[in-house]
Amino acid sequence: MRQQIAPIPCRPWTLNGLSERLIVSHYENNYGGAVRSLNAIRDDLRALDLATAPGYLVRCLKREELNAMGSVALHELYFGNLGGDGKLTAGMASALEDQFGSVDDWRREFVAAASAMRGGSGWVLLNYSRRDRRLSNVVGFDHTQSGVDAAPVLALDMYEHAYAIDFGANATAYVDAFMRISTGAWSASASPKRLVRSRTLHQPIRCLRFRLKNSQQNWRATIACRCSTPARSTTTRAAPT
Ligand SMILES: [Fe+2]
Repeated sequence: MRQQIAPIPCRPWTLNGLSERLIVSHYENNYGGAVRSLNAIRDDLRALDLATAPGYLVRCLKREELNAMGSVALHELYFGNLGGDGKLTAGMASALEDQFGSVDDWRREFVAAASAMRGGSGWVLLNYSRRDRRLSNVVGFDHTQSGVDAAPVLALDMYEHAYAIDFGANATAYVDAFMRISTGAWSASASPKRLVRSRTLHQPIRCLRFRLKNSQQNWRATIACRCSTPARSTTTRAAPT
């Protein structure tokens, strides 16, 4: 089955601190690119004669498949977390307090990990270990380093493409903006365990679809929303690079 581009679960024009242009570029070019890469890699694997293919080629394709799978999953989590009001349920706050001492202590460590990624690339994740039933902040230097038994409940994309359009090299300002609006899905859950279970069951997310039509010089993004907000269309603009 081919990987499909998931509907974007946030409303890009409503995010305070991250521009619609940045979010749409990130969603289309980087998340969309990961989906397209994953499908291309799997096409190559299917076309391969595994009985005669050299080991290095199989290893390379399987490594790239895992990398693309991680990129797809983490980007979907990233966009799904945008749009919160910063408030935590009692269950989520209690889980953070149990593990980190306080919500502020968790936040300090998460932000420090993100700051340490400045100038580099990768992910900062708040993970829930299914085995240990514990939360932890981790950094991943590519899309595959999430932890063997871990389910990420919060993902911060520290690749430059996630912020350069709005912030240039000022990653600190990007992290500040992310922390203000990143508690959409996970903070509304009763507990980390319940959040992980709900995501495993693939509960439907809000209906919001992008249709992007590329031309040589311009692109037009038509955003159709079938939930609470009316459909709208953006204006034609210069193509993102
Ligand atoms: Fe990204």
